[in-house]
Amino acid sequence: MNQRIVILDYGSQYTQLIARRIREHQVFSEIIRFDTPASRLRENPPQGIILSGGPNSVFEEGAPGIDPELFTLGIPVLGICYGMQLMSKTLGGKVVPGESREYGKTPMRTVPENDLFTDLPEEFIVWMSHGDRVAEIPAGFKVSATSANCPYAAIRDESRRFYAIQFHPEVVHTQHGDRILANFLFKICGCKGDWKLSGWIDDAVAKMRAQIGGEEVVLGLSGGVDSSVVAVLLHKAIGRRLHCIFVDNGLLRYNEAAEVEEMFKEKLGLDLHVARAARRFCKALEGVSDPETKRKIIGREFINVFAEEARKFKNCRFLGQGTIYPDVIESSSALKGPSQTIKSHHNVGGLPPDLKFELVEPLRDLFKDEVRRVGRVLGMDPALLDRQPFPGPGLGVRILGEVTEEKVKLLQQADLRVQEEIRKLPEYKTIWQTFAVLLPVKSVGVMGDQRTYEYTCAIRSVNSIDAMTADWTRIPYDTLATMSSRIINEVRGINRVVYDISSKPPATIEWE
Ligand code: XMP
Repeated sequence: MNQRIVILDYGSQYTQLIARRIREHQVFSEIIRFDTPASRLRENPPQGIILSGGPNSVFEEGAPGIDPELFTLGIPVLGICYGMQLMSKTLGGKVVPGESREYGKTPMRTVPENDLFTDLPEEFIVWMSHGDRVAEIPAGFKVSATSANCPYAAIRDESRRFYAIQFHPEVVHTQHGDRILANFLFKICGCKGDWKLSGWIDDAVAKMRAQIGGEEVVLGLSGGVDSSVVAVLLHKAIGRRLHCIFVDNGLLRYNEAAEVEEMFKEKLGLDLHVARAARRFCKALEGVSDPETKRKIIGREFINVFAEEARKFKNCRFLGQGTIYPDVIESSSALKGPSQTIKSHHNVGGLPPDLKFELVEPLRDLFKDEVRRVGRVLGMDPALLDRQPFPGPGLGVRILGEVTEEKVKLLQQADLRVQEEIRKLPEYKTIWQTFAVLLPVKSVGVMGDQRTYEYTCAIRSVNSIDAMTADWTRIPYDTLATMSSRIINEVRGINRVVYDISSKPPATIEWE
């Protein structure tokens, strides 16, 4: 078993960042629920425990707590922010409500000789974000650092290897944050730092072989990053006992179906079956303009087509899926309030009952950037791995109103020009998504001496970290001008182009 650090999730927006920072030090990390009982960790002890920050106050009724037994396991613990307050309170210290919230960059002074701050300057800037503060430290603890507003900016009990800090070491605004985490991992927890993605691949392949034995696997390949990496991994593990199904719903980007076929079938030699279902999707969408109904129809047809193809593989016992870590983190959702479904997303859930598969999900413990790195180690095309996200219902949610074959063709042509131009920008890699949307609005224009009455196309481009919030990209005017003139001159049927300057929230990234 690999060495690992577990992070108890108290609902901070930075919890996943802590996990990723630790993995960047080649130490495996795992996010678990804050109410995980100590008995579960006793069975398979981690090298260290981190208590994350969180939005609550330890004084609130129902504030998330901790099993006090965790402090008796002999495992080093690092409490961050809320984690510090909870740790102090649980171990007999005193926490008081702060008169005002301390938020932002704060100079902090450390005391000499403490292992969490080894090799750090005496004074540096940290990122604070807290209301409550520790007023009395628990017995056995000493002060490690102070700031103007915070006499206990960091505390420690070296004999029990308990450390707590009132600031966030995982965010870039904290100077030397990475060194602090490294000190915890290597000096305090004794981690080796030998968790490597190449080793991860060998392990994953071995595990898949053990799980699958001599059986066969069917996989829905979408051409997106996750399912593509799963396809290549599974192919490495079991070769042509993997059967990939690609559903061409006719709502893909220009030439995409052909490109996926070329890449996976011809270049990589996978057993790929393309279900050509464009007509069928178009027929099912005839006369429908309500966005949610369109999504439901596209989702339903997808399942139907996929199921029909999958039934052809009578001997398949397994279904491969590109589930990644953020999808499976045992979320402390109770802390985050009810999450609203703003739009109904779909994936290969909900297969008919006669199709009973066991799941193979090799990416379950990787973050997205790690999936991309695995793809690189596997020698996959960087252009494929760096692709922007593309929604399951495809252009179906980018054609407002009724979807027709003619409109799909128009939008594919407009979008192709947007893609070609945006890729020329050096900042392309930092953009979350850029695409064209076809509006059901015709307006008047002139072309030569002719009056035209044609469709309007909107360009949407956003920067985002996780698609939960997004800001519109400041695309240079010259690029916007080229996109616009190319679309209007080269795509017959569109005579007007507009740029969407709304952020999310309150707008969403897609228009439907
Ligand atoms: P919204 O429009 O909700 O989109 O701001 C957030 C992100 O999710 C993508 N998206 C989808 N992805 N199936 C998907 O796989 C869907 O039904 C779907 N709807 C939206 C969208 O492209 C953006 O990145």
